[in-house]
Amino acid sequence: MSAEKILVLNSTGKVGRNVCRALLEAGFDVYGTTRSTKGALASLGVKSVVCNYTLRADLDRAFIQTGAKKVFVITDYFGAARKSADLEIEQGRAAIDAAKAAGVQHLVFMSVADAEFFDHHVKHLHAKVALEKYLRESGVPFSILRPCAFFENLDDPANWNPLKKGVVKFLTTLDCKYCATYDIGRAAAIQLKDPQLWLGKTLDVIGWQGDLSKVAAALSKVSGVPVKAQLAMPIFLRRLFLKDLHHMCLYYEVQKGPRGTPEAFKKILPDTLSAEDWFRFHGQYSNGKKIATGV
Ligand SMILES: NC(=O)c1ccc[n+]([C@@H]2O[C@H](COP(=O)([O-])OP(=O)(O)OC[C@H]3O[C@@H](n4cnc5c(N)ncnc54)[C@H](OP(=O)(O)O)[C@@H]3O)[C@@H](O)[C@H]2O)c1
Repeated sequence: MSAEKILVLNSTGKVGRNVCRALLEAGFDVYGTTRSTKGALASLGVKSVVCNYTLRADLDRAFIQTGAKKVFVITDYFGAARKSADLEIEQGRAAIDAAKAAGVQHLVFMSVADAEFFDHHVKHLHAKVALEKYLRESGVPFSILRPCAFFENLDDPANWNPLKKGVVKFLTTLDCKYCATYDIGRAAAIQLKDPQLWLGKTLDVIGWQGDLSKVAAALSKVSGVPVKAQLAMPIFLRRLFLKDLHHMCLYYEVQKGPRGTPEAFKKILPDTLSAEDWFRFHGQYSNGKKIATGV
C-alpha cells in the first residue's frame, strides 16, 4: 500500500521542519509548503511545494498539486501575520477553508496550551482561540494540538538567544513547561494514524517541566561542561519591551500554567523528549559545533 500523503504548512519553520521529520518517520508521504523554489527540505525526504501558506489561492493549488487529504496547519502571529491577530485569523481561516474545499479528511491544527486562559495582553494567542472555534464549526474533520513553550526557544538566534557553550538563557528562570517541536510532530502522527480515537479531540503537548537551573543541568550532562542558567534579559526590560511575552511568562510564573502535565502527555507518547533528550536531539550549538562530549 502506498504511503498516505500529508501536506505540512510552513514546513521550513521550527515547527514544520521537525513535524515533517516525525511524519516521515511515521511512514507518511510528506509534502511541505515553502515560498522558496530551492527545495530546502529535499535532503530530509520532504517533497517541497512552492506555496505561501497564508494565501488561499496558493493553498488551493497546493492541495490540487499534491492530492493530500491530510494536513498539518499552523499560523504565526509574530512572523507571517506581522503582529496582527486579525491577520492571523484571516490566514488560519484561509487554511481551514482551503482544506474544506479540497475535501480534507483530517486536519491537525497547532494551537497553544491554555490559549484561552492567558490575560488580554498576550495578543499573540488571541487568534488561536478564535481559530479553534472556527475549525470546530467548519465541518472539517480535525484534531487540535496545544503545545507549551518550545525547547527550541533555547537556541533562537533570530530572537537574540543563540545557544552557546556553557550557558543557557530564557525569558524566565522559574519553573516552566517545555516541549520539543519534534514531539508535536510525533503527536500529530498519533492523531492522524488513529482518526477514530482522535477526530474532534484536543491534546496538550507538555513534554517536560523544570526551572532553568534544571535545564542547565541537563545541558551540562549532555555537553560535559558546567552550564550557567541566565535570564535572557532583566525582568524590567521584559516588562517594558516585550509586554506580550512578559504576560505570557507571568501565566507560567504566577499562575503556574499551563494546566497539562508531562505525565498526562507521556500516557500518549511514552518516550517524549526531556530537556536532556532534547539537547541530544538538537545536537549542536548555534555556531554549528556539536554539543555532546567526544563528538
Ligand atoms: N515559541 C514557542 O515556544 C511556541 C510555543 C507554542 C506555540 N508556538 C507557535 O508556533 C508558531 C510559530 O511556528 P515556528 O516557530 O515554526 O515559525 P518560524 O520558525 O518562525 O517559521 C519560519 C518560516 O515562516 C515562513 N515565513 C516567514 N515569514 C513569512 C511570511 N511573511 N509569509 C509567509 N511565510 C512566512 C518562512 O518559510 P518559507 O520562507 O520557507 O516560506 C520561514 O521559514 C506560532 O503560531 C506560535 O504561536 C510557539
